[in-house]
Amino acid sequence: MQFFQGIFSHLPTLETDRLILRPMKMSDARDMYAYASDREVSRHVLWDAHTSIFQTRRFLRAAIRQYRQGLPGSFAIALKESGRMIGTIGFMWVNVDHQSAEVGYSLSRDYWNQGLMTEALRRVIAFGFDDLRLNRIEAQHDTENPASGKVMAHVGMIYEGVMRQRLKNKGRFVDVACYAILRSDPRL
Ligand SMILES: CC(C)(COP(=O)(O)OP(=O)(O)OC[C@H]1O[C@@H](n2cnc3c(N)ncnc32)[C@H](O)[C@@H]1OP(=O)(O)O)[C@@H](O)C(=O)NCCC(=O)NCCS
Repeated sequence: MQFFQGIFSHLPTLETDRLILRPMKMSDARDMYAYASDREVSRHVLWDAHTSIFQTRRFLRAAIRQYRQGLPGSFAIALKESGRMIGTIGFMWVNVDHQSAEVGYSLSRDYWNQGLMTEALRRVIAFGFDDLRLNRIEAQHDTENPASGKVMAHVGMIYEGVMRQRLKNKGRFVDVACYAILRSDPRL
């Protein structure tokens, strides 16, 4: 556990062609509120759309506290070009015994369908295998959110099936599609 705590308490900054993945900071509040207050963005995730910037600040404070405690957390996704924070991606949990983890992500609607989350996920998977030394990385999506499954498939995650009505989200029982990639699988 100490190994993971060390990495999560000093989350590195990662780079892709168009993005910087870095720890979240309080000054991201305005950018984050701009997309986290959008009900279309929150529709298929387990958090509710933020209704005030105070809620966003509370979220950021909790995320930063999590870094300090060395718990699994998310990166801010920022555009290289403008520095604007446009989403998050990271680990929901890490299982030390099984060297496995689950990734999750959200992106501002202004930037959907430009291949940005595929780019971010590819980099986070490399971080998971190369830096965290994981063996298996999982991801899940609401079957009514097929764009997320496309992102998973694009990076080489393999579809493993559907867990029926696994979650109750915003008053609706949700079928959840599961994907995973193993260290030994080809990365795309
Ligand atoms: C899901 C999400 C992360 C995708 O991010 P993105 O940067 O737009 O993803 P990409 O551009 O890398 O890839 C999206 C793919 O889905 C496809 N797509 C978009 N809408 C679609 C739809 N309604 N049905 C099927 N495919 C769809 C795109 O065409 C693209 O595939 P392609 O590259 O083969 O053309 C983004 O829409 C998002 O943050 N949504 C809100 C939060 C969320 O749902 N998070 C995921 C929770 S599991």
